[in-house]
Amino acid sequence: MSQRTLVLLKPDAVRRGLVGEIIGRIERKAGWSIAAMELRTLDRATLEQHYAEHEGRPFYEPLMEFMASGPSVVMVVEGERVIEGIRALAGPTDPIAAAPGSVRGDFGTIVRENLIHASDSEESAEREMKIFFPAFS
Ligand code: RTP
Ligand code: MG
Repeated sequence: MSQRTLVLLKPDAVRRGLVGEIIGRIERKAGWSIAAMELRTLDRATLEQHYAEHEGRPFYEPLMEFMASGPSVVMVVEGERVIEGIRALAGPTDPIAAAPGSVRGDFGTIVRENLIHASDSEESAEREMKIFFPAFS
């Protein structure tokens, strides 16, 4: 089942020069492709929409500050079961708990700076693609 998902390579991934490494992993999955991509510094309004579910949580403000701290790579990736697939490629939220072989498991140590975001469901993917690429359909 071909799907589309919204992927962010977070500011730590860009600062650390890991964009090529992470995109390479995505591109090497058979049949997956990048449908849209831009280097973009995310503003507060965009981040408030994107992370609305976390408003009020203790990590919310530091997360917003981190996510606005430099450019991110904003992408739509499409292909077979790509929503579940990129979540698996990323690994769980805590990079120390993430298995080696996943992006977070290979490159991360702290929960906030965990390199990559990927939509967690078809509903999230639709919602998030509209936030970041309103003209894209
Ligand atoms: P994401 O939304 O970024 O793909 O990550 P996720 O689903 O794995 O994790 P989520 O629970 O949605 O949290 C969103 C992002 O907030 C930061 N975070 N910090 N306790 C903390 O300090 C904490 N918890 C979450 C991470 O950057 C996480 O990816
Ligand atoms: Mg999430």
